[in-house]
Amino acid sequence: MKPDLHSRRPENSSLATRTAPLRTGAKKIFVKSYGCQMNAYDAARMADVLAPEGYAETADIEDADLIVLNTCHIREKAADKVFSELGKVRMLKEAREAVGLATTIAVAGCVAQAEGGEILRRQKAVDLVVGPQSYHRLPEMLRQAAFGPVIDTDFPVEDKFDHLAQPSDEKIRQRGVTAFLTVQEGCDKFCAFCVVPYTRGAENSRPARKVVAEAKRLAGAGVREITLLGQNVNAYHGEGENGDDWSLADLLARLAKVEGMARLRYMTSHPNDMRDDLIRAHAELPALMPFLHLPVQSGSDRILDAMNRRHSAADYLRLVERIRRARPDIALSSDFIVGFPGETERDFAATLELAREVNFASTFFFKYSSRPGTPGANLSDQVAEEVKSERLARLQDVVEPQRRAFNAALVGKTIEVLFEKPGRHPGQIAGKSPWLQPVQVDGPENWIGRVAAVEIVECSSNSLFGRLRNNLGPSGEGNRP
Ligand code: SAH
Ligand code: SF4
Ligand code: F3S
Repeated sequence: MKPDLHSRRPENSSLATRTAPLRTGAKKIFVKSYGCQMNAYDAARMADVLAPEGYAETADIEDADLIVLNTCHIREKAADKVFSELGKVRMLKEAREAVGLATTIAVAGCVAQAEGGEILRRQKAVDLVVGPQSYHRLPEMLRQAAFGPVIDTDFPVEDKFDHLAQPSDEKIRQRGVTAFLTVQEGCDKFCAFCVVPYTRGAENSRPARKVVAEAKRLAGAGVREITLLGQNVNAYHGEGENGDDWSLADLLARLAKVEGMARLRYMTSHPNDMRDDLIRAHAELPALMPFLHLPVQSGSDRILDAMNRRHSAADYLRLVERIRRARPDIALSSDFIVGFPGETERDFAATLELAREVNFASTFFFKYSSRPGTPGANLSDQVAEEVKSERLARLQDVVEPQRRAFNAALVGKTIEVLFEKPGRHPGQIAGKSPWLQPVQVDGPENWIGRVAAVEIVECSSNSLFGRLRNNLGPSGEGNRP
């Protein structure tokens, strides 16, 4: 990267017509993130680590001196998208070059980790490849990239979190009243279909002290809801503030005491790590929202076994029962994979059966995608694409009505909503229900950041529409400090 070029900015001109005059100004970074919430969290932290280097975030890719694609490797389509996107970014880089502007292209995230050097070979416009555990080294890597392509996909011994600059209060406010906070990373479970243990490395929990400090900072700047993130977040076992080993339940109980914190959530959980204290937390902690994403993947014991999930369909159903007993209004959501190698019609029927029995509030379903390097890729009995598509449609027919019924059941009820942003139309504000449904109401923007009582009057397939219960006013504990 050439600093002299980077400091030259065009004024009020589209890329095609950019000519002099040039002015000196801050460098701009554009980050596009794919995949899971953890990638979204990482994207924000990459911007944070580069802010002290003089990079301001821009939403306009054409205006960026540094473009970061923060990639996902979970399914083939996600990984392929990176290369098509890189083709477009290369053209942008060339167009900027033609008007004397240098652009640095970085590939981060799980494709960077999995394919590393291959990316540099396939797309010469890429200057830098950085894995999910080494992006705290971005400032140094950018300096090196001035002299040729750089790659860092180490799993370093140092903790990246210790080397990340904190966002300013202003930056936190810009990002909104809800935030993600990574507390656990990596996975030791090695489900037969999944790349995560290879792209994110071994399981590792952050010490509670650091998590609490980050949560306090966020809450102090106006964040009202935090979602704790981890590939297996409920396997969290970090060093507690008192030096003991803390579980996720211990951590949640502590975070509920942080001033200004109205709501807590966590994701994603593995059924086998859903311990008693965490189930109890759902009964005992008012700040812990009654929504749980608990992927099951399949309802067939044979397939669950082949997937290395280490639990049966009956285990899952028993767990659901225990969770519902502790917190009767809890909404459950899940992930399913259809067409795992060897999945027969009978196996799939068991999946439909489980979905019917549980009655999920929302569901994510995926066609099995064979991933290089995972045990699933070597299985002989791959299921034909048409069969996968047909099963996906049948599963959808079972779970879609469940989701709609769950939304419809709220019409006529009064629920608490955390307002997050302006709504679709002027005069509206939008927020989320405790069960993560988007809610729209007519209301003033200064209610953003408040938890308030809303009477639901209507629902569409994806959103709820309601009226502010002015007579109740915003609930006391929910008011923004
Ligand atoms: N850590 C989380 C999920 C990680 S990936 C967990 O353990 O639940 C999110 C979802 O993507 C998975 O739950 C699974 O349903 C899906 N998935 C992962 N690998 C896949 C693959 N190879 N093909 C299709 N879907 C996949
Ligand atoms: Fe992947 Fe399984 Fe680990 Fe989840 S638990 S990240 S699905 S290997
Ligand atoms: Fe994708 Fe990596 Fe997340 S593979 S789902 S971005 S952990």
